[in-house]
Amino acid sequence: MSSIHIGVTASGDAVSLPLRLVNRHGAITGVTGSGKTTTMQAIIEQLSAAGVPVFAADIKGDLSGVAVPGEARGPVAARMGELGRRFEPKGFPVAFWDIFGAHGVPIRTSVQAMGAVLLSRMLGLNPTQEGAMEICFRKSEDERSYMLTLDDLRWSLNDMLEEREEVCRQYGNVTASSISAIQRNLLALEAQGGDRLFGEPPFDISDLMKVGPDGRGVISLLHADRLMEAPKLYATFLLWLLTELFRRLPEAGDLAKPKLVFFFDEAHLLFNDAPKPLIQQIERLVRLVRSKGVGVFFVTQSPTDVPATVLEQLGTRILHAMRAHTAESLRKIRAAADTIRPRKGFNTREALPVLATGEALVSVIAEDNIPSEVQKVRVIPPQGQIGPVSELERRVQIDAGAMARKYPAGDDPKAAYAFNRRMLSERGIDPGPEFEPLPYEPGLYLKHVPIIDIGAERGPGVMRRLMGIAFWSVITWGAVSVLVAIV
Ligand SMILES: Nc1ncnc2c1ncn2[C@@H]1O[C@H](COP(=O)(O)OP(=O)(O)O)[C@@H](O)[C@H]1O
Ligand SMILES: [Mg+2]
Repeated sequence: MSSIHIGVTASGDAVSLPLRLVNRHGAITGVTGSGKTTTMQAIIEQLSAAGVPVFAADIKGDLSGVAVPGEARGPVAARMGELGRRFEPKGFPVAFWDIFGAHGVPIRTSVQAMGAVLLSRMLGLNPTQEGAMEICFRKSEDERSYMLTLDDLRWSLNDMLEEREEVCRQYGNVTASSISAIQRNLLALEAQGGDRLFGEPPFDISDLMKVGPDGRGVISLLHADRLMEAPKLYATFLLWLLTELFRRLPEAGDLAKPKLVFFFDEAHLLFNDAPKPLIQQIERLVRLVRSKGVGVFFVTQSPTDVPATVLEQLGTRILHAMRAHTAESLRKIRAAADTIRPRKGFNTREALPVLATGEALVSVIAEDNIPSEVQKVRVIPPQGQIGPVSELERRVQIDAGAMARKYPAGDDPKAAYAFNRRMLSERGIDPGPEFEPLPYEPGLYLKHVPIIDIGAERGPGVMRRLMGIAFWSVITWGAVSVLVAIV
């Protein structure tokens, strides 16, 4: 197979995207229920069949159905009949991943490897606070006290506060208020489960580029329903993966097929109130991964959710229906319709709001970098099941895979020790002889270091405040009783 089949026009012509042009990226858009996830699944399956590994965020778990064959006599089979094609139900090789370790194998990294820029974005820091974060990272490199977990970051920040005068002299001005703001945001990140992302063993990006023994590309699905509730965590995590891919992969030039294709579902989360430097970073990354043989598809409600500089980089456009209920939505439809190359005699603006589920307006990139004129198609349905697999099926697949053994769930008491030795070796420093490390005790930090600012925290802070109220109530009650006794 040398191309990905997208759909069939009313006159029966097939619209397809050559495999070698998948690295020119794409966008799949439309309102909820218009068919985006299903289209994404059909493309993913064909990539896998062609031996291309895929990474996709699975927002509601409904992509997981790709692991098992679809229904032989359901509506999909009927649709294939309408399109004049035979339906062959088929399941595909899948690796399930989950930061929280519940619905897949955990993906972890270290605070040190994530770096100051992405971590600041994850914490929603302002430029001054980001400056403090950068100093914290520089200092930890200089002192060889590498940070694995968010707790380690807290220790470092606390040290910085204690040695603030010295730090200011050596690295530049850092205010106590920036440090305590970072501490506060760390608590919020932890409340969203962000601490689960940090630990050993570190995730090796090459595990996303596996091809099965039958020659089909493995489809890596990131379970993202809980992650979606923490949009900053979600966006930064995916950006980190993309950055790692970019860093690790060699230049590949033009390949017959991509090395990996990356699908960003709910991509608006990535761009919503993203600061300008971040958008520039995404734009650069998307432009440069292309020559490393990586294709990126953004999936979102409207092409206008994607900043213009990024949208320019997306060669293939698949626009599912948008609905016109208000003057505002009508304006959005017009803007969206104008992002696809027009065709004489076809009114994109009028066609977009009246598309049925599974219908789309499509323009694919061609060899000469010119996108094709818009075509209205019925999208080829997937061969796997539409909708989620059962929890049991998912569990069986996870436990049978090699990844569950490579990245075990749960805390490793020796993680910090192993991490530090690895960091030293990576930097060409001899870590010295190995010895039995002391066991790591979770929450050690909170036991020893008081929280500086309790402005926005949860948990222990609330408890402390309740205790305070109880304490003062007892005192007041006592005083009143004494007064009453005297009177
Ligand atoms: N190409 C298609 N062929 C057949 N049915 C489809 C197709 N696309 C969508 N559907 C049907 O529409 C439903 C909703 O589609 P979905 O892809 O989940 O929409 P979205 O991701 O845009 O919310 C699917 O569960 C499926 O039943
Ligand atoms: Mg969807």
